[in-house]
Amino acid sequence: MQTEFCKKLGIDVPIFAFTHCRDVVVAVSKAGGIGVLGAVGYSPEQLKEELDWIDEHIGDHIYGVDTAIPQKYEGMEQTSAADLVKMLNDAIPQGHRDFAEKLLKDAGVPEWPDKDDEVTLSFSAVQAQALVDEALKRPKCRMIVNALGTPPADIVEQVHREGRLIGALAGRLKHGIAHKEAGLDFVVCQGSEGGGHAGEVASMVLWPQMIDALDGLPVLAAGGIGNGRQILAAMAMGASGVWMGSMWLNSEEASAEPAQRESYMKATSEDTVRSRSFTGKTARMLKNEWTEAWERDDTPDPLPMPLQGYLTFDAVRRTHRYAGSGECQKVAFNPIGQVVGQINEIESCRDIMYRLQQEYVDALEHVNGLLPD
Ligand SMILES: Cc1cc2nc3c(=O)[nH]c(=O)nc-3n(C[C@H](O)[C@H](O)[C@H](O)COP(=O)(O)O)c2cc1C
Repeated sequence: MQTEFCKKLGIDVPIFAFTHCRDVVVAVSKAGGIGVLGAVGYSPEQLKEELDWIDEHIGDHIYGVDTAIPQKYEGMEQTSAADLVKMLNDAIPQGHRDFAEKLLKDAGVPEWPDKDDEVTLSFSAVQAQALVDEALKRPKCRMIVNALGTPPADIVEQVHREGRLIGALAGRLKHGIAHKEAGLDFVVCQGSEGGGHAGEVASMVLWPQMIDALDGLPVLAAGGIGNGRQILAAMAMGASGVWMGSMWLNSEEASAEPAQRESYMKATSEDTVRSRSFTGKTARMLKNEWTEAWERDDTPDPLPMPLQGYLTFDAVRRTHRYAGSGECQKVAFNPIGQVVGQINEIESCRDIMYRLQQEYVDALEHVNGLLPD
């Protein structure tokens, strides 16, 4: 499964693990792939702490850091976090706040204990630059990845100046082409079945179109990969590797709460939905009363990013912290892809990595066996 892109990075297998959990980053990198830490939601201080831990535990292996700077968002003109917070606070209608709070209350989700805790501005350039600066201080961090759009030219230049690679996610062909034109080193092409922010076109259709359109620029296939057969399909189409998010969520190393794990293991591939109800942009997640409530005609419409994310910041942190409490899972934010239907047990990251490669080889042998003698 060695590709040119693997060799460029110095990893054994082209399996890229997107995760918010530092233990998963370390375990996947140690198993021959590369862990990429999702830094959205971290303050620069928190990210420093996570990366210190990773640097200490990862040995000679490498990793990546993922940020999210949208191309366009409400309040883009604000240059300080304080101004952006003020703008967001002023722009959120009281009716939206009351509606969100009622959903949480009805599900018995306890209050956050410290009301004065700082809100992190996940999706803004104001926040992302500090995160990129922190990541680039680390020699073992070999790649920066951006969700939600082409990263600004100064960040691309900065990452290249530091001798690292930079890529970005694309759920539409035109976004991948824009990434290439901006000088990115690779594109993560995510089909609509993937967890988190996702477009409308399914992987089976989008991957080969992207690979052809980008004409030699490495494309990592994402969205709907949970076993080695799916990896073989991506590699057969010309992908330079696979980028997986959902499969790690229920791994032994992941920091998922027991109630969340139960939701993942119970869910079928039909139990996810693309919804704007948490971040303001369409993201795939487990369907529940929260996602359904924001869809109804008689309820408020989700606000654009980052307003909705700011509004739901409290809901997200409370439903994670108190995941097992009351009927919390009915309103919890559980981004995950359709591949959730393939998650039926808790495996270690090492076992997942081993299984993926074994299944890949078995599938390849099967396909080879189809050739005429
Ligand atoms: C819980 C979760 C959170 C995600 N958050 C981000 C994110 O912050 N940044 C990002 O680039 N991608 C994010 N994604 C998308 C993943 O990077 C990846 O493209 C996707 O999970 C691939 O599809 P799969 O879920 O079918 O494996 C997220 C995915 C999940 C499941």
